[in-house]
Amino acid sequence: MPTRYAIIGTGMMGQEHIRNIALLPDVAITAIADPDEGMRAAGTTVAGQHGFADLRAFSDFRELLSAGLADAIVVASPNDTHFAVMDALMATRLPVLLEKPSATDASGATTLALRAESRDAPVWVAMEYRYMPPVARLVEEVRAGATGRPKMISIVEHRFPFLTKVGHWNRFSARSGGTMVEKCCHFFDLMRLIAQSEPVRLYASGAQDVNHLDEDHGGQRPDILDNAFVIIDFANGMRAALDLCMFAEGAYFQEQVSVTGDAGKVEAVVPGPARFWPGGAERVSEIIVSPRADKAPRREAIHVDERVLRAGDHHGGTFYQHERFLRLVREGGTPEVTLHDGARAVEMGAAAERSIRDGVIVSL
Ligand SMILES: NC(=O)c1ccc[n+]([C@@H]2O[C@H](COP(=O)([O-])OP(=O)(O)OC[C@H]3O[C@@H](n4cnc5c(N)ncnc54)[C@H](O)[C@@H]3O)[C@@H](O)[C@H]2O)c1
Repeated sequence: MPTRYAIIGTGMMGQEHIRNIALLPDVAITAIADPDEGMRAAGTTVAGQHGFADLRAFSDFRELLSAGLADAIVVASPNDTHFAVMDALMATRLPVLLEKPSATDASGATTLALRAESRDAPVWVAMEYRYMPPVARLVEEVRAGATGRPKMISIVEHRFPFLTKVGHWNRFSARSGGTMVEKCCHFFDLMRLIAQSEPVRLYASGAQDVNHLDEDHGGQRPDILDNAFVIIDFANGMRAALDLCMFAEGAYFQEQVSVTGDAGKVEAVVPGPARFWPGGAERVSEIIVSPRADKAPRREAIHVDERVLRAGDHHGGTFYQHERFLRLVREGGTPEVTLHDGARAVEMGAAAERSIRDGVIVSL
């Protein structure tokens, strides 16, 4: 009997989930839910193209849940729907993969994390960047001692502007949580993962300087940041910096993650989605290990299966995360990224938004 998935929200990311689930062994997608007729049809078509023609499509996710068609749920609806969708899902016994950010604000995210403690089935917050092969390798190298004692983390993301979404939900901080929550929760999560410590203090500077300035959505102008620097102190003495620029899609690499310690530096460099690069060419990512002692950096290309790369925009992260989520669904256990992790990432993002807005250092 295949493991049966249902997808709530079949926009861009929901369709990426469908393509990645299709690469897993012995699975089926049995149901989707999306209130938007066009996206419901697109989700049905993509599922059909990947061997799941026999599914039911609902406009209301509550009807999907009542139909009892699934063994696991993937939530890929807009950020401001996550709380209400999770509110309903909490009452079920189904494992859930919930797209980040778990909620648009820290109090909603914390409420969900507390409620999950008494729930029987696991909720895994989708943090695809942890599972990109070059980033996963960087974490392994740091754990294996390549940096010595790690002290500094730097994450640079220089990428394309926010894409157009159904209802323009990602153009407004009230609906997305703001850029620091919506996009950067990934990087705050990675910092916590690498540091193995909790953030204590944060300062950020940022603005909306270039993107979406001439857009008008029903009389409202987008209010989301398109560039920022964020500096974070961790309880164990480590420090981290994020450099985000969303008008830099000409850069060869989209993410550059580095960790430096008393014995060396490890860096992962990751290209952006091939579909936005001339010719649609896939580019390899790299890991660079630079010990202080021998001053001879080792560069290694990280090759990711082409089928996996083609299934999404996240350099394979979505697939490798799904492999592990499926193991959790079949064998039980604890999610690798909990609602508690999700809440900490939202809290850091909300603190960065506040630091930028008020020009203050925020204690966490
Ligand atoms: N982890 C990542 O790297 C990553 C990347 C992109 C998006 N995301 C996340 O995935 C989610 C969806 O983003 P997207 O880019 O696919 O947006 P999108 O607008 O392309 O798709 C969202 C879909 O959800 C539907 N929807 C709205 N309300 C709904 C509801 N109540 N029930 C079911 N469906 C509903 C919309 O009609 C739309 O089709 C967001 O939370 C976003 O932050 C994560």
